Parts: sequence; C-alpha cells; structure tokens
Amino acid sequence: MQEKLQALQTEALEHVEQAKTLADLQNVRVSYLGKKGPITEVLRGMGKLSPEERPVIGELANKVREAITEALDTKKQNLEEAALNEQLKSETIDVTLPGRPVQVGGSHLLTDIVTEIEDLFIGMGFEIKEGPEVETDYYNFEALNLPKDHPARDMQDSFYITEELLLRTHTSPVQARTMGEYKGNKPVKMICPGKVYRRDTDDATHSHQFTQVEGLYVDKDVRMSDLKGVLNQFAKQFFGEEREIRLRPSFFPFTEPSVEMDISCKVCHGEGCSVCKKTGWIEILGGGMVHPDVLEMAGYDPEVYSGFAFGMGPERIAMLKYGVDDIRHFYTNDVRFLKQYHQA
Ligand code: DAH
Repeated sequence: MQEKLQALQTEALEHVEQAKTLADLQNVRVSYLGKKGPITEVLRGMGKLSPEERPVIGELANKVREAITEALDTKKQNLEEAALNEQLKSETIDVTLPGRPVQVGGSHLLTDIVTEIEDLFIGMGFEIKEGPEVETDYYNFEALNLPKDHPARDMQDSFYITEELLLRTHTSPVQARTMGEYKGNKPVKMICPGKVYRRDTDDATHSHQFTQVEGLYVDKDVRMSDLKGVLNQFAKQFFGEEREIRLRPSFFPFTEPSVEMDISCKVCHGEGCSVCKKTGWIEILGGGMVHPDVLEMAGYDPEVYSGFAFGMGPERIAMLKYGVDDIRHFYTNDVRFLKQYHQA
C-alpha cells in the first residue's frame, strides 16, 4: 500500500509538471484528488486495514495529498503568472511611436469669405441678421417696390413653391423684415449673409443657388456719401489699400438713386486687361439710397429717415480675390480645390 501511494505521488507530480494550461491542471486535480480519485479511495478503505497499519497509511496518504495539492497550487500560480506576462507582452504599447496623422476638415472657402466680410462690417458697427430662404412674395418683391406684374421681377427668375411662396431670389427681403422688426423708430445697421436661388442654367458664372450679403443702414441723415465711405472702406480692407472704387448710375426698384460699384482691376491697375475686359474696372456690387416707398412700407417716415442699401455676391468676390474661374467650384466641393484656399 505504501509503495502504491508513493507511486501515485510520483505519477501525479509528473502530470502536474506536464500540465500546460490551467484546464490541464484542473484535470490533474480532479483525477488525483477528486471524490473518485485514488487517494480518496485509499482513505475510504482505511477501515479495512489493521489497527497498526491504519495510522501509518493514513499519515502517508495525507502527506501524499498535501504534496500533490502543493504542487498543483505552485503550478497554478506559475501558469497564471505566465499567462499574465503573455497578455502584458501582447498588449504593450510603444509610446515612443509617432502618432498617426488625423485628417481634419476645414471651413469652406465661401464660409471664410463670408466670415471675413462679416468681420469687416461688424468693425463698422453693423449687426448680422438672418432671414428665411423660403420667402413670401410680399417680402421678396412687394415690400421692395416690386408690385405684382412689375417688369423688373423678370430680372430675377424665381423658383416658386406656391403663388405666394418662393425661394428668395436675393437677400434684400431681410431689409424689409429688419425694418419691420424695428418698427419705424430705431436706426437699422445690419448686414445679412445667406443663400439665394434663381432659375438660371448653371455655367461658369451662373449658379441656381449662390450667396449674397445684403447691407442696410437707415437713420436720420444718412447720405450717399455715407454709402460711398462705407463701401470704400470695405473695398480697401478686403481687396487692398491700393484699390480704387467708383460708383456708376444703375437701376434697382428698391433704391433711388441706384448705383453699381466697381473696383479698380488688380491685374492692370486701371490700364485695361483681359480680366477687366479692357475697362480697368470690375463690378462687385449693387446699391443705392433706400427708395422712400420701401422705407414707408416698412414703417419708416421717409421725411425723417433715410438710408442706403447694397448687395454683393461673395462667390464673385472670392473669384476676383483668388482668381477662381468657375463658380461651380464652390459647390462641386472637390477637396483638391478647397484645400488650396484653406487658411487653417
Ligand atoms: N438685390 C439685388 C440683386 O440681387 C442686389 C442689390 C442691389 C441689393 C441694390 C441692394 C441694393 O440692397 O440696394 O441683384
């Protein structure tokens, strides 16, 4: 019996030694120390032994069990440690490696231009206003001195939604809306950037949707010279100190008198070249003194108040400033085009 126990111990320790995983080890534990294992069997059979043999075998069986248990525990610890080391090794991060570059988007050229225009006018005391892109016929036309069947409505082919609703063809309705909001008794000094829509066929200089920035200044004693001063300041800050402006008579139903503003050509400085079509000047916006009827419809007494207004197209301005040759570049969003202008 004693040899059998000794042999069991040797065999068990060998199996412990050979175990490669925690699962193997658990199998060894069950097969030697489990309820149906050989040691338990020996201990169970103690009753059949002689009184002299009993303590000797009992003690030996316990020792064998302890030895196996100890070997199992040690091996378990070793296996666990090895598994942990393995895991730590596979999860090590080399903190000295350079990071992967993250692709960051940037603001659109048009957004940058509008922001720049906004900043310049904010610097001159203008506030920023917004208006709806789906506009009523009243604000888009009538409140701007363009009654139904007025021929000048044809200047802007429109996308109608219903008889009375359309996609605004310009940002000028925000003039009427803001004056209405100020109830005819406060000065108004605002610009309104936003999207506008026209039934045009897209080509290098036309887009069915584009951007405008509207400007309006209404107060007591506002004069044409104020308009000229503000626009001159804007042109010089935006395009450069060396640029000259000139105002030409024009016609808009909502201003009287009306003007178009040109800036001197930056390529030929007024000499005449292909960029300015040999004139030395490039048209950049329309404006004028707010028509008395427009003031009156919005609740301002034209005997007391006067004002100027203007409207410009940031796409055209960006095209002039950066030499972009096709308005569609702003909307087809080829990243190679946009990246060139990103000033991040
Ligand atoms: N609304 C005009 C257009 O879309 C631009 C314009 C001209 C706006 C004269 C004005 C203005 O405020 O006074 O062509």
